Amino acid sequence: MNAQLLIETAQKLLANDKGLLAMDESNPTCNQRFAKLGIPQTVEARRDYRELIVTTPGLGESISGVILYDETFRQTKRDGTPFLQVLAAAGILPGIKVDTGAKDLAAHPGEKITEGLDGLRERLQAYFQMGARFAKWRAVLAIGDGRPSRSCLEANAHALARYAALCQEAGLLPIIEAEVLMTGSHTLERCRQVTEEVLRNVFIQLNCQRVLLEGIILKPNMVLPGLSSARPQEVKEVAAGEQQYQVRLIDRRPDEIADVSEVADVTMKSLWRTVPAVVPGIAFLSGGQPAELASARLNMMNHRFRAQLPWALTFSFSRAIQQPALDIWLGQEANVVAAQKVLRHRADCNRAACRGEYTAAMA
Ligand code: 13P
Repeated sequence: MNAQLLIETAQKLLANDKGLLAMDESNPTCNQRFAKLGIPQTVEARRDYRELIVTTPGLGESISGVILYDETFRQTKRDGTPFLQVLAAAGILPGIKVDTGAKDLAAHPGEKITEGLDGLRERLQAYFQMGARFAKWRAVLAIGDGRPSRSCLEANAHALARYAALCQEAGLLPIIEAEVLMTGSHTLERCRQVTEEVLRNVFIQLNCQRVLLEGIILKPNMVLPGLSSARPQEVKEVAAGEQQYQVRLIDRRPDEIADVSEVADVTMKSLWRTVPAVVPGIAFLSGGQPAELASARLNMMNHRFRAQLPWALTFSFSRAIQQPALDIWLGQEANVVAAQKVLRHRADCNRAACRGEYTAAMA
């Protein structure tokens, strides 16, 4: 294993308060997002959209690395320039999603195991040869009645650790993504418990598989109440006196109403308890949070705790950077420039959040 290369890659990805842009949606996921907006679900439309992203002027000011899907990794601009070349010119490192998706875990209704270990060594070597410098694997954990089970936690942590060891052998920094989903009626406290249990299991397995912790980036969820959890009491109190405010809050999902400071505090506590100090960086996923809230929460963590943190605290968002731009693009060439402006703006807002300098006025 070339430890120096892995450590240098971590430094490059985490330097200057930049973060990562996940644009590694599989074709079915990308097609689903297109379908919702009436965009054709074709290879050409996916290519056009990815060209819009990688050619966004100034993207490298806030983004140090992008995570690509195999199709995009090999694609070119309309003029034939490979996307990898465009990214290199912008000073952005290319990464690659290498899991093959979360499948039903046998004998565990409602639980998933992420697959993709078969043949992974050879695929990683090929991606390294083509220029990738980091990789991503996503484990998904749902909270519910008796879920996640111990067996699901352990199986996913084990797969993540096997993947991470193979990545490091191939010279690729592994992004370790363990996502506790927002779906469900669980409380913030339950999400905290599960998130800590997931991360404890992950680090036990990473140590067991002899993964160099200095050469990984952890990609966790923020700790949030479930999408269909009970609405906080304060909402009702506010609602009694202020009609306007009532309507706005009641229209919102419980996870959106959660207090930004509380989310920041609880998330930080979970990470302090579970993530070793030698890990160079933690890059959050957005998980379906509205873009502004994901920025506000990341900002609050850095604003309050940055000076005390052993790791860089940054972002590796997909939807919280891309969705506002996708909503503007709608598959229309005439909307490309406006969509790129919004994409760049969200990236810049998140970089500001890494410094604890994001304000609502920026959004
Ligand atoms: P979201 O930020 O949309 O959660 O996506 C992150 C990601 O990489 C999912 O694997």
